[in-house]
Amino acid sequence: MYKNLIELFKENEGKGAVGAFNVHCLEMVPAMVHAAEELNVPVILQTSLGTAEYIGFETLIAAVKALAEKSTISVALHMDHCKSIEALKKAIDFGYSSVMYDGSSLPIEENIKNTKEVVAYAHERGVSVEGEVGSIGGAEEGVVVAKDAAMYTKPEDALYFATETGVDALAVSIGTTHGQYKSKAKINYELLVELKAKLGDTGLVLHGGTGVSDEDMKRCVREGMKKINVGTELNKSYIEVVSQTFTAEGVTPLTSLRTLLGPANDRIKEIVKEKASLFKL
Ligand code: 13P
Repeated sequence: MYKNLIELFKENEGKGAVGAFNVHCLEMVPAMVHAAEELNVPVILQTSLGTAEYIGFETLIAAVKALAEKSTISVALHMDHCKSIEALKKAIDFGYSSVMYDGSSLPIEENIKNTKEVVAYAHERGVSVEGEVGSIGGAEEGVVVAKDAAMYTKPEDALYFATETGVDALAVSIGTTHGQYKSKAKINYELLVELKAKLGDTGLVLHGGTGVSDEDMKRCVREGMKKINVGTELNKSYIEVVSQTFTAEGVTPLTSLRTLLGPANDRIKEIVKEKASLFKL
């Protein structure tokens, strides 16, 4: 079934975190849904605005909905880190079931004002909203925050932001970074516990899942994270596999593309299964 984050969190209550996987091309969509089906867990497919424009909003949404409607599991389609209110309204109108407004680089009052506008528009249409306070370091499409400019989320800001805006999910900065890690993430668990105690029903979201150790992932789930994002690892692995298949001996322009892309799609399925298994309590 095609659902929003509120429904997914409710369904998954007491069972761990829901995995949110960044789609980089249409090929990844069935691989991700089938991986979640094999584990019998709900799944969030998320895209940047750039990926939505690359695939085409209508094509992407139609594909996700078609797979979701005939699936045994619940699937959400979420717009990741978007700084444009107009683009989010467009995503909602086209049929995304969930969106993230990222006003984390703005002064908090402006972030609240803009997030509230998105929440009002989204909730009227049955769409869930994720917001962000504090800023997560690192780089991913459309979001570049120098690691030394990243700021831990202050619990009092998080509570104020969540109460004022009515967001359903909140991205918090507790020490993870977007992108591939050079060194192990230093997660501030004391902060996570405090955020969980203060935020109650608002689903906490861990960004920057790539490079976080299995042990840290499991602990974040135990401490109450409700949504965990993984992006870079999928993009990187896809490129690694196609680099091998496209350059293998005997490949010619007449080789079937399916035999070259199939192994990369299989790798996406494996990664989603590995990660989603860690997110189960
Ligand atoms: P990674 O690319 O580090 O896995 O982070 C993904 C993410 O948080 C998307 O918002």
